[in-house]
Amino acid sequence: MFMKWKFFDKIPVEGGVSYQDLAASVGAQGEIVSRMGQMLVSTGTLLQPKPGSVAHSRLSLRYKTGNSNGSAFAMLYDDFQPVFAKLPGFFGKYGPNLPVGKTNIPITFASGADGKLTPWEVFAQQGTEHIEQFGLAMQAMTGYLWPHTGAYDFTWVGKYAATNPNRTLIIDVGGSFGHSLRANLVKYPNIPPGRCAVEDREEMIPSITKAHANDPVMENVQKVAADFHKEQPVKGALIYFIRRCLHDYDDNDCVNILKILADSLPEDEPQARVLINEHIMTDPPDREVAAIDIIMMTWASLERTVQQLEKLADRAGLVVIKVHRAGGSSLGVLECKKASRS
Ligand SMILES: C[S@@+](CC[C@H](N)C(=O)[O-])C[C@H]1O[C@@H](n2cnc3c(N)ncnc32)[C@H](O)[C@@H]1O
Repeated sequence: MFMKWKFFDKIPVEGGVSYQDLAASVGAQGEIVSRMGQMLVSTGTLLQPKPGSVAHSRLSLRYKTGNSNGSAFAMLYDDFQPVFAKLPGFFGKYGPNLPVGKTNIPITFASGADGKLTPWEVFAQQGTEHIEQFGLAMQAMTGYLWPHTGAYDFTWVGKYAATNPNRTLIIDVGGSFGHSLRANLVKYPNIPPGRCAVEDREEMIPSITKAHANDPVMENVQKVAADFHKEQPVKGALIYFIRRCLHDYDDNDCVNILKILADSLPEDEPQARVLINEHIMTDPPDREVAAIDIIMMTWASLERTVQQLEKLADRAGLVVIKVHRAGGSSLGVLECKKASRS
């Protein structure tokens, strides 16, 4: 509730604020706010400069609106924790089987939207702030848990750009705020940002545009509204990079998504690639991948082994040339070309 009521924004960076003032800012009863506040003080999340007041600690600034780490916490709390709490009800209603489909699944059941909405529609109907929170959470989680760089070497793309002035270079498909693309543009400064694009759902584009406006790395990156289940709006790009999107979908949807990307590869450029960047399931599993796999189970999807991903690529008309891994990361990059290419 401290995040929902934006109290972390209202506590000054220097000095404190009284519980009464915080409560008055949202018309809440003072005792509700002080009872919650004392819990945060007891754990050291907030400091108590004097009785009845709170101040920021070194931990609490991350819970301010727009902070990606705080957004990751809020996403786990708002979007995932209720889903797990309601699993008994879900399995009671639908039977103790693997969830399948797009609407009668744990994540939609938990929000009372089962049978009506898909997970992305559940998020969309919660408004812009919620959509931004999810995007910022992706940014935080992928930033510290799963590095964007290190597995695939984009050096050749910078060289290619210098001699091929017209082709779109990298499209970050389902890229959210484009944090992966950004990390690679920083690492490979020879890749011109203006010849790259971030694609995401239409409702994400205003937030992405706003986030890029004051970012010298991303301001010139193209922002493209696209539904990756449908026609690809930017055809003939050198690289279609898709990261942590396939794990949201069942096999048939993934094949459709990949087939659309395969068909968008340019006929006249043998170096063109689809790069599939996903967590790699192993046996026995990595703890992190097993944990995300349980989340994906609530979306009727899964984390896949290299062999499962290769099978999807094959069904989509792609050939996996190489699987790139970075030490210490649970993610891998499957480098794919169109099957008909030599
Ligand atoms: C799990 S996030 C991954 C984001 C980012 N690629 C990363 O690795 O952090 C999935 C992304 O796919 C986007 N997405 C979901 N459905 C989509 C669709 N039909 N078309 C395009 N993007 C979609 C979401 O908005 C979200 O940004």
